[in-house]
Amino acid sequence: MAKTVAAIEKDLGPIVLAVFNAGSYIATAGEDLTVRGFRQSFDVNYFGIINGLVPVIERMRVRARGHIVLVGSVTAYFGWPTTAAYGGTKAAINILAESLKYDFDKMNVRIQVTNPGFVDTPLTEKNLLPMPGLMPVNRASRRMARGIKSGGFEVTFPRRLSWGLKLLRILPRPFCRWVISTATRWKARPLNFDRKPPSE
Ligand SMILES: NC(=O)c1ccc[n+]([C@@H]2O[C@H](COP(=O)([O-])OP(=O)(O)OC[C@H]3O[C@@H](n4cnc5c(N)ncnc54)[C@H](OP(=O)(O)O)[C@@H]3O)[C@@H](O)[C@H]2O)c1
Repeated sequence: MAKTVAAIEKDLGPIVLAVFNAGSYIATAGEDLTVRGFRQSFDVNYFGIINGLVPVIERMRVRARGHIVLVGSVTAYFGWPTTAAYGGTKAAINILAESLKYDFDKMNVRIQVTNPGFVDTPLTEKNLLPMPGLMPVNRASRRMARGIKSGGFEVTFPRRLSWGLKLLRILPRPFCRWVISTATRWKARPLNFDRKPPSE
């Protein structure tokens, strides 16, 4: 990534905006955990950002100018069924952005985190959960671009879903889990004991 960043700047000039968007979703059901699933999720979603962020920020720090966007998810707000790995990476991304903001502000580098709701992409094809407010990718991209231009620390959409989830987050946890369990019909879902033990 350091070489890639150097090559981009050599060919195109200083990077003024870097959007760290790569991500993969591996469903992690409680009865079917694999170490590899967690490792892959963190390697791509979290360390993928770190690998690129470090060489980019070195250059932005010297120039005292830059703009970083990390792509999180509303699954960062609390635990959902199947998101032990994916949601964990997205929660870590939110903490990363929040923590770095203290110093990046002093360095004149803006950092934002986007927490989109559900967007109709190949990633959500693998999702086993109901997806309220599923957005077409064009609309989500426009919404994200608008949020990046606005400069606010967190960009989240669709508003009705993310504000509802934020409200849920501050209510007592057992109530929050009950709502999620009911909305996803997760309690009624049988455990998949027929599945072969996963190979590492
Ligand atoms: N879709 C949603 O509902 C939703 C909601 C919230 C947040 N997000 C986040 O939005 C971002 C984009 O997701 P998407 O929905 O657009 O999914 P997507 O269509 O599956 O795209 C995933 C992107 O990540 C890249 N990627 C995946 N694994 C990689 C790896 N090992 N190394 C390098 N690049 C890799 C892919 O590159 P290639 O095309 O080269 O494989 C692709 O550009 C992700 O961070 C995701 O977590 C998505």
